[in-house]
Amino acid sequence: MTTEHRPPASDQPAPRQHAIPSYLDASHLGPWGIYLEQVDRVTPYLGKLAYWVETLKRPKRILIVDVPIHLDDGTVAHFEGYRVQHNTSRGPAKGGIRFHQDVTLSEVMALSAWMTVKNAAVNLPYGGGKGGIRIDPRNYSQGELERLTRRYTTEIGLIIGPEKDIPAPDVNTNPQIMAWMMDTYSMNTGKTSTGVVTGKPVALGGSLGRADATGRGVFVTGAQAMQKLGIPLEGARIAVQGFGNVGNAAARIFHDHGAKIVAIQDVSGTVHSSAGIDPHRALEHLRATGSILDLPGTEPVERDAFWDVDCDVLIPAALENQLTETNAARIRARVIIEGANGPTTPAADDILHDKGVTVVPDVLANAGGVTVSYFEWVQDFSSFFWTEDEINARLDRIMREAFDSLWDVSQRHGVTLRTAAFIVACTRVLEARALRGLYP
Ligand SMILES: NC(=O)c1ccc[n+]([C@@H]2O[C@H](COP(=O)([O-])OP(=O)(O)OC[C@H]3O[C@@H](n4cnc5c(N)ncnc54)[C@H](O)[C@@H]3O)[C@@H](O)[C@H]2O)c1
Repeated sequence: MTTEHRPPASDQPAPRQHAIPSYLDASHLGPWGIYLEQVDRVTPYLGKLAYWVETLKRPKRILIVDVPIHLDDGTVAHFEGYRVQHNTSRGPAKGGIRFHQDVTLSEVMALSAWMTVKNAAVNLPYGGGKGGIRIDPRNYSQGELERLTRRYTTEIGLIIGPEKDIPAPDVNTNPQIMAWMMDTYSMNTGKTSTGVVTGKPVALGGSLGRADATGRGVFVTGAQAMQKLGIPLEGARIAVQGFGNVGNAAARIFHDHGAKIVAIQDVSGTVHSSAGIDPHRALEHLRATGSILDLPGTEPVERDAFWDVDCDVLIPAALENQLTETNAARIRARVIIEGANGPTTPAADDILHDKGVTVVPDVLANAGGVTVSYFEWVQDFSSFFWTEDEINARLDRIMREAFDSLWDVSQRHGVTLRTAAFIVACTRVLEARALRGLYP
């Protein structure tokens, strides 16, 4: 029961700063604690809608499941699985499934809340969700992963569905895992339900354009920020951290529009060339050798020196917590486009802001992926599929409109694009909450 909108009786203890649900340890909130701070920071901008702000601080629904499977050696192993539906005020929950050994309830709650913010910031008709299994998939066979995926899908089948909650790939999950999820849900419900997950193979109702969609959104929003700041795209020097799905697509698209990729860092190392690196060649080299090192025409650079590279634009597209208070002051870029989720800590954000660096935040910059997932879902419902050109044109329009509205809010309130994204998103979610009212 909540009492947050009523004054506490005098014999009751004063309310905490955050109303901590009883299933969390207040002394160790983890990523969920960061999200709560972000909500607190934005609350003064919400006007009368602040009445409903507690809605954002409580996930609507959390399902914790046991996932037992037979291992190939004949034993049985149990894994922790989660599905969190943070908010469904604006539509069904939407967000990925992560397979990782460090998955925790706090992390899945925070990621689901950030999906609520991302979907609302870009104005997709979704709430936010996220799921995960605490497992290191590198240690398991394809057969074991298939059994794991199918049992997990059956367990969370209680709450997912094309009109309720639509999972997608996230860290260590891929189109094959989405195909198994779709098949399992379909077998359990007695009908082929392509729209229950997105990020499926194209042969199974997946969408053209999905593979490069996140990198494309990074390009579209980044190019707009550069235009606002008077930085020409032609010849702009770009450093990219992460050369996977997001990083290499963003690098290729920037390169194809005349920008110059001057540094690439991935798990294998860092390469630099002030004359510019052709990311198409870098990708071929990576596929051929398994590493970006020794790419002809580049010199290797110490891992930590990546942050000192002279560039106009920096694209962190690898992991979270990369830009911290220890390296933020060294950044020479004028624009940072967050391809990864959560690459910048709040302390680094403040340093970058003081240095006059513009950060295009993850909830906007990497929303291209969920936007094309939305297109996939719409196409699955109508069983009518669009061309790649149609998809790219629609993606570009949605990303541009989202950027423009966040830019206007940031200018009007004198706040960063990240705070602007939270203002726009939280306003949209709470407007929906206020209009719907409380049931019953
Ligand atoms: N794929 C999507 O559609 C999508 C959408 C939204 C957000 N994201 C986010 O983007 C980020 C990257 O996702 P992805 O799909 O490109 O993953 P990926 O696995 O395809 O690529 C990750 C890249 O990061 C590099 N990397 C790993 N550890 C590193 C380290 N210590 N230093 C430097 N580089 C390192 C890897 O070598 C690889 O090049 C993640 O934060 C993910 O949550 C992805």
